[in-house]
Amino acid sequence: MNRIAIYPGSFDPVTNGHLDIIKRGLRLFDKVIVAILKNPEKIPLFTVEERMEMLEVSCKGLGNVELGTFDGLLVDFAAQKDAVAILRGMRAVSDFDYEFQLALINRSFKREIESVFLMTGLRWIFTSSSIIKEAARFGGDITAMVPPIACEKLKEKLKLPHL
Ligand code: PNS
Repeated sequence: MNRIAIYPGSFDPVTNGHLDIIKRGLRLFDKVIVAILKNPEKIPLFTVEERMEMLEVSCKGLGNVELGTFDGLLVDFAAQKDAVAILRGMRAVSDFDYEFQLALINRSFKREIESVFLMTGLRWIFTSSSIIKEAARFGGDITAMVPPIACEKLKEKLKLPHL
């Protein structure tokens, strides 16, 4: 069997919480396709190419991980890739409303693709790409929250002397 899961997101930048979900997803699926959304509505800090590079470096050696980008509907991309599931991490209850809505609308479009949620690792419960960017901007030490390549890129992009 070749059970493929899509792990979609903005990954602006990839965090250790994302990597934890990818690693655990690989125990459940034969392949995890990490899919970066090209979202014209969000102004990201990093370009798609930069986000891809950070993911490429940090996913090296993890196993059967493929990287891709998509625009349009997630379920269309998932179907195109023959995925059986959409993988998402869930942190606090505050994630639930949005994730529930997303899972239901995706299911209404393509019933055969299941949404699978993994509870985030306890270590990463308070982290997100947005809060990490904010913390870094204001001088916080985020080195334990992101892979080294993301730390380097944040330092470069935000001109941060403290990292
Ligand atoms: O990391 P994020 O920003 O929480 O990821 C959100 C993502 C990429 C999963 C979501 O925005 C998405 O799937 N966008 C693609 C468009 C789509 O299919 N939206 C849901 C149905 S309208």
